[in-house]
Amino acid sequence: MITALREWMFRAWYWYVNHIDKNAEVLFMNFGYSNPDMKVKLDPKDESSRHSVQLYNLLGSATELKNKDIVEIGCGRGGGLSYIVRTFSPATALGVDLDKHAVKFCNKHYSIKGLSFANGDAQDLSFLKDNSFDALLNLESSHRYPKMDLFLKEVHRLLRPGGYFLYTDFRYDWEMPELKKQLEATGMTILKEVMITDNVVKALEADDPHKRLLVKKLAPRFLHKVALNFAGVIGSETYNQFSTHKYEYYHFVLQKN
Ligand SMILES: C[S@@+](CC[C@H](N)C(=O)[O-])C[C@H]1O[C@@H](n2cnc3c(N)ncnc32)[C@H](O)[C@@H]1O
Repeated sequence: MITALREWMFRAWYWYVNHIDKNAEVLFMNFGYSNPDMKVKLDPKDESSRHSVQLYNLLGSATELKNKDIVEIGCGRGGGLSYIVRTFSPATALGVDLDKHAVKFCNKHYSIKGLSFANGDAQDLSFLKDNSFDALLNLESSHRYPKMDLFLKEVHRLLRPGGYFLYTDFRYDWEMPELKKQLEATGMTILKEVMITDNVVKALEADDPHKRLLVKKLAPRFLHKVALNFAGVIGSETYNQFSTHKYEYYHFVLQKN
């Protein structure tokens, strides 16, 4: 019941963002990554989303993407995949999302050679052929999948031998052992496993003023509390879960043998 309510709230929130953001101010929907050692050069237009971009940079720089065929499952409003294409020059990049409105927005908003978007469910990607990608990205989306094992089967099916699963997401700390078991059960080799919760907390703190302004601008007053929680501003339940490590945020790189 609580899971169903949570899922409904997520869907309602994403639907709302897609309808209210007429000026395309929300291109990223992740909590971000702060790291003083990461010196990512950005287009001035990406600067206000620096920490969200840096999370994509962490994934994109984990392997060579130049001239490769890549897919992102759960691409949201496409800001991250568009950054990956502009920065790492894959041959083709497909963004897939469950939310039809987000996909419609992406197809209208971006016109970059090789970049396209499609509607689909991470747990059943049968419209995509076996062994068709060199890298599959999944960023802060999988916590929403009721059947993570089905998604991981799809990851394995879609990747070419030697292909990479570039993955990052959060779970309650007590859910992490189960997630690790599921990743091991894919038969892919885990090349990297790093806990980045503190980097995410730093990003939430740095982005706090900007996010508060955006919520004030885009959301009606009665939705402010919900929106501030989705944004993870300081003092919100989401922020507190990360800062006390009840939520742990992980970055993994896996390779299909
Ligand atoms: C927190 S947003 C992150 C979006 C994007 N990766 C980013 O960082 O900006 C999560 C996204 O996952 C998508 N999503 C949730 N469940 C999905 C599913 N079963 N299949 C595909 N996408 C899904 C949502 O619609 C949403 O766009």
